[in-house]
Amino acid sequence: MEQIRVMTVCGTRPEAIKLAPVIKRLEREARIESTLTVTGQHRQLLDQVLALFELEPDYDLAVMKKEQSLSALTSRILTKLGQILNEEEPDLVLVHGDTTTTFVASLAAFYHQIKVGHVEAGLRTYDKYAPYPEEVNRHLTGVLADLHFAPTAKNRANLVAENIAEEQIFVTGNTVIDALLETVDADYQFNNPHLRKLDFSKQVILFTCHRRENFGQPMTDIFKAVRKVVEQNSEVEVVFPVHLNPQVKELAADILQEVERIHLVSPLDYQPFVNLMARSHLIVTDSGGIQEEAPSLNKPVLVLREVTERQEAVETGAIKLIGTTSEQIISQINHLLTDQQQYDQMAQAENPYGDGQASQRIVRKILDLFAN
Ligand code: UD1
Ligand code: UDP
Repeated sequence: MEQIRVMTVCGTRPEAIKLAPVIKRLEREARIESTLTVTGQHRQLLDQVLALFELEPDYDLAVMKKEQSLSALTSRILTKLGQILNEEEPDLVLVHGDTTTTFVASLAAFYHQIKVGHVEAGLRTYDKYAPYPEEVNRHLTGVLADLHFAPTAKNRANLVAENIAEEQIFVTGNTVIDALLETVDADYQFNNPHLRKLDFSKQVILFTCHRRENFGQPMTDIFKAVRKVVEQNSEVEVVFPVHLNPQVKELAADILQEVERIHLVSPLDYQPFVNLMARSHLIVTDSGGIQEEAPSLNKPVLVLREVTERQEAVETGAIKLIGTTSEQIISQINHLLTDQQQYDQMAQAENPYGDGQASQRIVRKILDLFAN
């Protein structure tokens, strides 16, 4: 029996979190020879996830540089991955989502005429610069991919509308739910001293912000709005795990450092992070993945964006788009802090992203498709 050679490629924190359950499943299949290549687009944020899920890369391209530009990052990944694909010649390269790693790994595989499987396929805003550059990354990956693992029926419909062959699209649920359910734990004890001291009977707001299209004025307005909400509400505590991107860190230090009841902490490992989500009152974020996880934990999410590709959660009522202007952010957070009915409706809305079995479906499909 010939082995199916699957090379998974990831580089950033969210890709590793969402691919970890898939890699674990691939490793369990006798018919599959699984290898893991990390680009190291993120160094610290990626390594945290690899350690938590006990993933050991076969190849590490170690491409990260401080304040890397998109074009330099792209060319480093393309060159280095090309050499590895030459040596390994896998049957399938598996990528996830919409990062530079995702797009460039798909392009490298295509140049080597190797099939591409795209996990989390079909998410779209149809706005080229929002999120930037992710919307274009996922379009391009969609063009290059041979197998499209779409989390939801809506994602599938987007791909069909783009003339992708229906028999190449499989609706699986989102693998983030697999990772989340494995990690959340009601008895979890925080090691982080800031988190240990937090009083969760207060209104704890978990806040994250890192998108490139928010850099500059929008991010300044967002941070000022968060500061204002804390000043206006004595029962509110904000926890902000600050992304390592210097553009975010420096601005957070300028606007939010040493403000009473705002806790700036380093990026949290996935385990403390999801358990913090589960204990927070509400979440304010521009993250993609958090919009998918929070509805499973019955936490309302206010999204700091003008558009979202997670329209399913807007429709169930679990998340709400509030944009990036200070006034709107302040009024929307204040409203949710005081309107119990709105809070309950959002918290109780259904999770549209799956049942924790997405990885199993993906691996089964790979086995079916490559069986000969
Ligand atoms: C990347 C993805 C984005 C994803 C985000 C998840 C692209 C273009 N962007 O954005 O889609 O939402 O990851 O977090 O692929 N840094 C460190 N250590 C780390 C990680 C980052 O120091 O572990 C710093 C470096 O200075 C690096 C910078 O952050 O140059 C930016 O990293 P990069 O991966 O280019 O962009 P992100 O904003 O993290
Ligand atoms: N996350 C984490 N620690 C943090 C912030 C986020 O583990 O301090 C997790 C979060 O639960 C989600 C993923 O990282 O699974 C989202 O990553 P991010 O917001 O960086 O990227 P995006 O999803 O926007 O691409």
